[in-house]
Amino acid sequence: MITRSVVRGVGHYLPQRVVENAEFEATLDTTDEWIRSRSGIERRHFAAEGETTSQLAVKAAEAALADAGMTADQIDAIVVATSTPDLTFPSVATMVQAGLGMTRGFAYDVQAVCAGFVFALANANGLIVSGQAERVLVIGAETFSRIMDWTDRGTCVLFGDGAGALILEAATGSGTNADRGVLATDLNSDGRYRELLYVDGGVSSNGQAGHLRMQGNQVFRHAVQKLAETAHAALDKLGLSGGDVDWIVPHQANLRIITATAERMQVPMDRVVVTVQDHGNTSAASIPLALSIGRERGQIKDGDLIVTEAIGGGLAWGAVVLRW
Ligand code: UT7
Repeated sequence: MITRSVVRGVGHYLPQRVVENAEFEATLDTTDEWIRSRSGIERRHFAAEGETTSQLAVKAAEAALADAGMTADQIDAIVVATSTPDLTFPSVATMVQAGLGMTRGFAYDVQAVCAGFVFALANANGLIVSGQAERVLVIGAETFSRIMDWTDRGTCVLFGDGAGALILEAATGSGTNADRGVLATDLNSDGRYRELLYVDGGVSSNGQAGHLRMQGNQVFRHAVQKLAETAHAALDKLGLSGGDVDWIVPHQANLRIITATAERMQVPMDRVVVTVQDHGNTSAASIPLALSIGRERGQIKDGDLIVTEAIGGGLAWGAVVLRW
């Protein structure tokens, strides 16, 4: 018998304002057709003025707690994946803790940009299997609209804001692939690729929040190769392959990347949860958002084998295999 981290609840929150691709045609040399055909994105949500990452995160957390039938005082730890915190410090996670009225336990942020939720999930699983926490709230929350260069058509049409949350709880498993919960993880990074995707500001460099800079076609090339590799590496640890997967829940950056990865994994697109058309790229929030929406749509069912995979700035990339 071994300890597993089992999903007990999921939830999400999206800011009210929806921005359709066509809105960008007024200020940029771009078209709805270009954005749709190159990225699959049709619309995204942007946070209102004054609406912060921690506020989105609290709402997603409340939805996940309601789904789990739990209250905040039952949670031992909060791990938030974000690259767009309210403040340099304290962490968004401690702000969520206060926002939920939690006065016990511990909370901290994880930063692995678009791969952040996969890293946070692996980290939360580590807390549970090592006995440091029994119930962990794992959140991906972002306000990427705050770090866009609105004159750069190659980036500002791609990103959106939102938050998703998952509750993991310790449970006893048999140690086989039939167990519910996190079954395998694979994490990677390679700091040599910093120039491909970064923000040109920061506390110890220029004291600015900065703007996102991306060599999109270079990131695309790495994504198509590395996402299938990491997903296969995680499945290999279990002796499984694409044919065993019920749902791929990928990072939602580009429909062409999602499709190419599914093809390489030999998983048909009707077993891939796709939300990129409605949310754009919400960085660390994209996977928990897609998990929550996949549940709402009735796609993800109890017992399904799920593979999540993501890549982003660093470069950092990874995959988690779990049974819902
Ligand atoms: O989440 C973190 C990881 N990030 C990603 O996974 C993003 C990965 N990259 C991508 O999704 C794609 O590379 C993009 C959607 C960013 C771009 O698609 P692409 O097919 O790689 O296009 P490209 O960057 O090679 O650009 C093709 C052309 C260029 O014009 P020229 O040089 O061929 O004349 C761009 O200037 O498209 C132009 N372009 C645009 N045209 C209209 C770039 N952005 C736009 C735009 N509207 N918004």
